[in-house]
Parts: sequence; structure tokens; C-alpha cells
Amino acid sequence: MLKLTAADWKGLKADTVLIPTCEDRSIHTDPAIEAIVKEATDLPEFSGKKDEVVVFYAPQNIKAKRVIVRGVGKAEELDAETFRAASGKTVKHCIKKKFTRLWIAVPDAAELTVDTASVLRGLMEGSCLANHIFNQFRKEKEDKPLRQITFVQPKSFAAAFSQLRRQVEIVCSGTVKARDWISTPANAKTPELFASDIAAEAKKLGIKTQVLKEKQLERAGLGALLSVCAGSNSSARLVILDHNSAKSGKILALVGKGVTFDSGGLNLKSGSSLNGMKADMSGAAVVAATMLTVARLKTNRRIIGVIPIVENMINGRATRPGDIVKSATGKTIEIGNTDAEGRLILADAMAYAAKRYKPEIMIDLATLTGACVVALGEKMAGVFSDDDALAEAIVAAGAATDEPSWRMPLFKDYKDMLKSEFADINNMPSARWGGAITAALFLSEFVDKTRWAHIDIAGPAYSTKAGPYCPPGGTGFGVRLLMNLLDRI
Ligand code: BES
Ligand code: MN
Ligand code: ZN
Repeated sequence: MLKLTAADWKGLKADTVLIPTCEDRSIHTDPAIEAIVKEATDLPEFSGKKDEVVVFYAPQNIKAKRVIVRGVGKAEELDAETFRAASGKTVKHCIKKKFTRLWIAVPDAAELTVDTASVLRGLMEGSCLANHIFNQFRKEKEDKPLRQITFVQPKSFAAAFSQLRRQVEIVCSGTVKARDWISTPANAKTPELFASDIAAEAKKLGIKTQVLKEKQLERAGLGALLSVCAGSNSSARLVILDHNSAKSGKILALVGKGVTFDSGGLNLKSGSSLNGMKADMSGAAVVAATMLTVARLKTNRRIIGVIPIVENMINGRATRPGDIVKSATGKTIEIGNTDAEGRLILADAMAYAAKRYKPEIMIDLATLTGACVVALGEKMAGVFSDDDALAEAIVAAGAATDEPSWRMPLFKDYKDMLKSEFADINNMPSARWGGAITAALFLSEFVDKTRWAHIDIAGPAYSTKAGPYCPPGGTGFGVRLLMNLLDRI
């Protein structure tokens, strides 16, 4: 879908062209492109400010049906996200207008505040991510993705970036896969269906795959995980994806919360807090999609994805508040609240992964707490770890990919809030305050000595509003962050 071309605009024949333009300096060197930019900025209605747009039809300087000149703001404030948003918005516009192809003039001027690779990466990611339509559940499929998006660069550039193009396409297809899984309604992704869909995709790519079912989970003692699914007509699964399974050396384990619907259980969620709870498997979707991505890119290390999948529902067998369950570590847990279910399935999945694979590093992603959304809002993830290097690497990877995250404290004083009168630990803290921290502290009780970080993605995993390169629904937040992180840890 993405194409890189090294060419003079004089010799090109295009139909729709995007020219990103600054308000305070020229960022292109091709004379034909510069001439069009000048024509635009000579107009009183256009100065190059962010999101200003002017369209020329059948311009003289190049062969095109139309040219969209789009402002991207001040040159010194340019970054990859600016270009991601600019190309994303343009692609969405082109889809609405039923265009089929787009050509993008890649800014190539020297001495920008952002390097050429980041400009190109931003433009490509925005295009790729915006050019996907989730319409599996519509009969009328009106919108069609663009068939081709061509990035036009000077001759000297293009060859150097063909690897980048391939990499962006593969990573973005991971993000898109995660989005699709998250946006899928809960009635079409019961734990059985979701698990077998992940397994089918993984096997196609040669990932060693295992799906543990109820009997095997019972035998392995994952009582906390099983208790969450007890009230559902579906049954629990634990999916294990093993990339480079034969490779010796240090193992990275990724664990993702997979609650296909979180009703709260007997501590039933009320009213609007039930909305969006189909997305409570976002951690699982992101981990699974990241595993597919490392397999496609043939990443040279052993990585394991451990994905517990359940549905938190109510029937006569549902877990009751006050019940006590036994986790995989042998530790008993009093269920103070059936809506604090994510930590139960993660505790068992992480203990199981630690025991079986002895990973050097373990990272879990989960839509774990509303408290994290209160603390950081809907665009940032919370990072919890006692390992400074690991936490800093995650925050840096988030900054580099514009999937921002913020380090939060694992403040040990609050462990007291998880005491139980009857069991080893309570899944419900004794006070509301600091809920994202007490949830992370609960998890820390099940990872032992492994280097571990927890990423709470309850805020950014799902959005009811469209973003510049993301439709409403699952965002796939975390795939690009994790892929970037691999080079840092
Ligand atoms: N899945 C929710 C957390 C959540 C809330 C995700 C809002 C996305 C948006 C989680 O299982 C939950 O219910 N957490 C409770 C924990 C509480 C009962 C200790 C919460 O955050 O209220
Ligand atoms: Mn819950
Ligand atoms: Zn939940």
C-alpha cells in the first residue's frame, strides 16, 4: 500500500497530492513544489498554520488533478507527531471523498528540527494507521481504504528508506490488528473465540502456540484466573505465544489482560461504567499483536506472550464477594470485590510465566484501573516498576513513538491496604485513594524476583472520539511503544 519513489515532480503524474507546509520557512526543495507553496501562502486565507488547508485544482507546475497544501505550523515545533497527524487527516479526507490514490511530497529541506527519517516515519505511520477501516460488522461498506500512497523524495533519499517503509507497514499492521480485536463486540470475541483467533494468526507466522483450557488451568492451579470466569457461560483460556522458542538466552515475557467483557461480576458496574467494557481485553490484544509483529519482523530474540482470557459475568456459579480463591503461587486471595478482576487473572498468568519460563524481564499491559485514568487522563499510560532502567526505557519508548506514558510510584506503605482478615491478601484495597498504585502493588506480590514493569493502559486503550489517525474504538496503544522498547532493553 505504501510506496517510496525517488523522482522529480516534473516527470510525475499524480491525481491527489499532499504538500505539508510550514508558516515560517520553506521545507521543500523541489522547485515545482516550492512554486505551489508560494501560490498558497500568497493567498490571504492561507499562512501555513497547523491544520489550515488550501486546495488547487489542475495546477500548472505539476501534473495532478488536485493539490492539497496543508499547514503544519512553525518549523521549529515540527516533530514526528505533527506529520503523523497531517498525513492521517489527509488520508481520512481522501477516503471520505472516495479518492483511491495519494502522493505525498516529503519535506526534504536541510536543518529541520526533526530528522528526515522521523519526518518520513511520521508521514508513513499516519497514512498507514488512518487508512484502515473497521467495517467487518457493517452490511453497507461505504468507505474504502486508499489503494496506494506514494511518498515522493529526491533521488538521493529513497533507497536509504526502503527498510523503514517495510518496518512501518508491519508495525502499523500490528496496531491495526490490535484495534480490530479491541473494537470487536464482546459477543463476537468470547474467550474461546478470541483465544482461537489469536492462535490461528500466530500459527500462520510460525509462532509456537499453546492454548490452555479449563482442565489444564485447574491442574496448573490457576484458581484466581478461573474464579473470574466462573460466572460466564464461556470458559477461560491462557494463550502462550513463544517466538524463537528454540533460542537460548534471556527471555522477555509480555503479559496482557484479556477480559473480553467486564460487567463487574456480582459487584456489578452501573450505568455508563459498563460502556466500553468490551475493550477490557486491550492488554491482551496489544500483546498478541506485538507477538505477530515480532514474528513478521523476525526479531532476533526469544519473546513470550502470555495472555489470560476470561469474561467477567454473572450466573449461579459466579464468584461472590467474600469468596477465597487459591492462586498459582499458592497464596490465597479474598475477593473483596469481583470488579477488581484484572489483577486476579494477571497474578496467575504472571506467576505461571515466571515459574515456567524464568524470564529475565516481564512486562504486563492492562486496562487495570479507573484510578489511573483519573490520574493521567485518556492519553497517557501509567508505568509502575521498582526497576529504574526498565521504567525509564518504557517512558522513553513512549515518548519516541508518541504513545506517552508516565512513571508512577510503587509506594510500599500502601501495601497495608491489601490486608485480609481471612486470606493472604485481598483483591480490594481498604480505601479508594491511590487505586492505580494499590492495583500495581497487588500484582507485585505475584512476580517474585523477576525484573518487572506494569503498564496501566485504562486511559489510552480505547477512545470514543476519533483522533487524527485513529477512528473511534480501540487505539492499539502499546504496539508501537513495545516495538520501540525492544531496542532499549
Ligand atoms: N476494567 C476495569 C478498569 C477500567 C475502568 C478500565 C475504566 C477502563 C476504563 C477494572 O477491572 C475495574 O473495574 N477496576 C476497578 C477496581 C476497583 C474495584 C478496586 C476500578 O477501577 O474501579
Ligand atoms: Mn473490573
Ligand atoms: Zn476489568
